[in-house]
Amino acid sequence: ARKVILDCDPGHDDAISIIIAASRLSDLEILGITTVGGNVEVEKNTINALKVKDLLGLDVPVVQGAERPLVKKSEVATEIHGESGMDGPVLPKPKSKPDAGHAVDFIIDQVLAVKGKVTLVPTGPLTNIALALLKAPKIKHKIEEVVLMGGGTFGNWTPSAEFNIFVDAEAAKVVFESGVPITMFGLDVTHQVIATKEIQQRLSKVDNKVAKFVSELLVFFGDMYEDHFGIEGGPIHDACTTMYLLKPELFDFKHVHVAVETRGEFTYGATAVDLLNVTGRIPNTHFAHQVDQEAFWNLFEAVLESYDEV
Ligand code: BDR
Ligand code: CA
Repeated sequence: ARKVILDCDPGHDDAISIIIAASRLSDLEILGITTVGGNVEVEKNTINALKVKDLLGLDVPVVQGAERPLVKKSEVATEIHGESGMDGPVLPKPKSKPDAGHAVDFIIDQVLAVKGKVTLVPTGPLTNIALALLKAPKIKHKIEEVVLMGGGTFGNWTPSAEFNIFVDAEAAKVVFESGVPITMFGLDVTHQVIATKEIQQRLSKVDNKVAKFVSELLVFFGDMYEDHFGIEGGPIHDACTTMYLLKPELFDFKHVHVAVETRGEFTYGATAVDLLNVTGRIPNTHFAHQVDQEAFWNLFEAVLESYDEV
């Protein structure tokens, strides 16, 4: 089983990503869930992670991480995720508190402790991952892959920047320049997996408590996307990371160089994806550019159905 750490800011689509990783169709070994300030304040993201953990009956550590980006001020996305960061469904208060310690140390300790390598799966701003790489560069050799959601060739927070990268572009720069293998799910591909009304209808037929939770998430998230972007339904961005880990063949990739803009007046937080290799730089990223939509939703439906027996 591949060992993963899910570093997230749940977040509707972060929650869905956890559900995929923890499902019976997955053979991932989740070493822990770490949280970061992003969609909302880190404390709220941690509470949401704990609620999802309880819902799934998951027995993994949840460790809180960075509350703010490396350099600039925090920025939250309550207009997309609501005040709680996971508005819509109502889950009971968490049964437990987060585990002691800081996410950055948890990541470092786990990566160094395990036999073999660890895959990091960040679906929020890259603050924790950058801090871990800066604090303990020796972990680089033990990271199999960073499978992240962020960036793309267009933006959703500014015309050129995607939210996760925009929130902490300096951290993203550290990660993309680290030399660690990166697999990137940016908006180019996540906007190919939109939970439209039709998809919502189809998934709402799966009858178990996890599927019901996901359906409620999708309704809220979809309404917010419709209001905010005029898109019918929300792209389940973060879910691409764990769907890929379940079934890599769902996606097509280009091996390219990606740089992160940290200075542009209009382009702060943009990812410069060198699709035509005009820079001649050595590729640092497997950039997902296409997904088999039919196969994606079939597998996603099967993931939800796999919770029938839980
Ligand atoms: C990303 O931003 C967050 O709002 C989502 O959870 C996702 O990680 C999409 O831009
Ligand atoms: Ca997220």
